[in-house]
Parts: sequence; structure tokens; C-alpha cells
Amino acid sequence: MSDEISFLGRDVVSMRDFTRKDIEFIMDVSEAMIPYAKGEKTKRLLNGKILGNLFFEPSTRTRLSFESAAYRLGASVIDVLQASMTSIAKGETLVDTIRMVDSYCDTIVLRHPHDGASRLAANVSKNPVINAGDGTGSHPTQTLLDLFTMRRLKGSIDGLNIALVGDLKYGRTVHSLSDALTMFGAKLTFVAPESLQMPEDIITGLKRKGCKPTQTASLDDVIEDSDVLYITRIQKERFPDPSEYQKVAGTYRINNETLRQAKKDLVILHPLPRVDEIAPEVDITQHARYFEQAFNGIPVRMALLCLILGGEI
Ligand code: NCD
Repeated sequence: MSDEISFLGRDVVSMRDFTRKDIEFIMDVSEAMIPYAKGEKTKRLLNGKILGNLFFEPSTRTRLSFESAAYRLGASVIDVLQASMTSIAKGETLVDTIRMVDSYCDTIVLRHPHDGASRLAANVSKNPVINAGDGTGSHPTQTLLDLFTMRRLKGSIDGLNIALVGDLKYGRTVHSLSDALTMFGAKLTFVAPESLQMPEDIITGLKRKGCKPTQTASLDDVIEDSDVLYITRIQKERFPDPSEYQKVAGTYRINNETLRQAKKDLVILHPLPRVDEIAPEVDITQHARYFEQAFNGIPVRMALLCLILGGEI
């Protein structure tokens, strides 16, 4: 593989830290990782390395795919799955926890309820920190696997009509993804009830980069022309007032009826978990690609770990 771009020792905190060239390189390495991710071939590129998984919020895919990626490459994993089981419950600060875990492993993967926690951790830690979701902030490794899935399915991301649907206010996946998609010249439409539309500061940042996203509350406005529908869960746990959640719960539900107007090759993605935004009947249509998307977390995270920890690819 080309060594023209070096990721050795780099933190992964935000998509804004990456160029399009960086992302394309990571996707190329991810592609090469697929047979290893499936267990068809083995290469212990990270033998002896230790990954420190700190997950202070619920997770299934992100945590398990980082673990799986590490084990597939011969690395070991130490982890904490609940802040209540650590000295944080005794009043230890995140900074102290990070300083210490830093000396126990070679890279830290952090999921935390507060925006900015990963940046803080990266500033403190000598070893690289990978943001696995910080509050409503961002989720860059999810974005890398989302882009990888789109590129695999569509050949190229340039010029695609992509609709991001659901909770664009609190959803960190769509914050990172829209940042990255502007680098690929995709045409973005944000579909959300007014109270859950994309935050203004993100829109301003996108416009500054030359992207002119369209906003609507209606799925009908996008269903015919979309190449990719990226559906998200309404983030119930982030609403300060439960009655506000009740007002928007169940706003969008994709079923076979909704899809009658869609392009034949429309791709439906979802970072998962889903609640009720996609009816199970959609799962067996040619549009449903979200489980394949979830698998892609393994090769993409293998690629990232190798690049950051210096595994010879
Ligand atoms: C997402 C997250 O945690 O932000 N899940 C994931 O990592 N695949 C999406 C969500 O929780 O809705």
C-alpha cells in the first residue's frame, strides 16, 4: 500500500480532521481488509498491541466491531462498559481516567455522553484517541463506514442525491456524515420535523464549504429522486423534555408503500439501532443495505487500527 499518507499515531476525533484524500486512502485500505474481516484470511498485523475500549454510553455495533477488528488483527482488548464500574463513580475525572488508561494500552476508543469529550481525551492522552461517539457531537468512524458502504454500492459518491432523514438535531452520525459528504460533492437534503432540523452552525459550516443543502419536513419531497436514504432514530435519550419527544416520535416510517415511488437502485442505510423508522418488511427488499453497512464497520475499523498503530499493510 502507498505510504504517502501517514496516519501513525493520529487521533480520530472529527471528520473535519480529514481530507478527501485521507478518506479515500482509508477506504482503499478497508477494501483490502474485507477477506480478513470475514475471517477468510488471517494476518496478525497488530500482534502484541492493546486496544482500550471505554464505553460510557450504550453500544452494540461500535464496541463489538472495534473488538472484532482488534482480535482479527491479533491485538487484545481491555474494556470498561459502564462509568459506574470505574473510579469515575468515586469522583475521578475523565482526564485522570484517560491519563491512566493511556498507560495501559496503545490506543483508546472512547464513547462518552458529552460533546467534546474525545477532543479533551485526545489532548491528554499520549496514545491516539478514537472518538466512538461523543454526545450529540460526532461519530467519525461511523461516517467512514457509511462512506465506504456508499462507495461500494454506488461506485462513487460524487453527485449522488443523498437524503438524511430523522433526528438531525441530536444525531451525531448525521453531523459527521454531512461534514464528510460535502467533500465528495454529494447533493444533500435534510428531512426532519422543524424541531429536529440540522443545527444552524453545521449548516453554516457546510455552506462555507460550498454545499447548499435543501431542507424539508416531508419524505415525499425526496423519495423519487434519492439515490441514498440515510435514516436515523429519533434520539429519545437526548431530549431534555420527554413530552417534546412524544411530539415527534414515529414521524417517519419507511415501508414498502413509501418505496413504491423510489428509484429501483435506491439504497437505504441506517446506522442502527432502529426503533420504528424502517418497517421489517423493507429488510428483504433490494434497497435495504443497513446490515451490510453494519458489517462494513469491521474492515473500516481494521483499516483505521492498522494505519494508526502502524501495522504493516
Ligand atoms: C449510533 C450512535 O451511537 O450514535 N449508533 C451507532 O453507533 N451505530 C446511532 C444511534 O444511536 O441512533
